[in-house]
Amino acid sequence: MYRSPSTLMEDVRGKLSESLNARLGDGLDLHSQIKVAHWNIKGPHFAALHPLFETFAVSLANHNDAIAERAVTLGGRAYGTVRHAARVSGLPEYDQETSRDLEHVRLLADRIEAYLKGLRATRDLGEAEDDQDSVDLMTGIITEFEKHAWFLRASLEG
Ligand SMILES: [Fe+2]
Repeated sequence: MYRSPSTLMEDVRGKLSESLNARLGDGLDLHSQIKVAHWNIKGPHFAALHPLFETFAVSLANHNDAIAERAVTLGGRAYGTVRHAARVSGLPEYDQETSRDLEHVRLLADRIEAYLKGLRATRDLGEAEDDQDSVDLMTGIITEFEKHAWFLRASLEG
């Protein structure tokens, strides 16, 4: 561990940094999957969903950056190559042969929900270890991605 402006103990910073890196792996994987959906989507909902998926991807790229920088701020490292993310991501692989619009919606909704599960676990760790800043970071992303998941699920209903 490196020096950190944080007042948390080194072992606590290590645990949080490790958990943040797990979220970074998930987030980088999810970003690539969203882009695959953005590129390959076809069907009557193309006009709405193609740009929507791009907004998810742009936003997620910013969150990935913030998570990586939080891990480093706490004195850890940020592990974020594509190969590393592929090894550590907890998300299922994406079916790249998918083309139908609503099938992409279903696949992304499942994966965003898996991503949210990890974010909540990291938030729980932050709460247990009294790291309010990591908690706040997670809460901001959770709030936004719950909304995205709701939008996708709503598109599948009715
Ligand atoms: Fe694009």
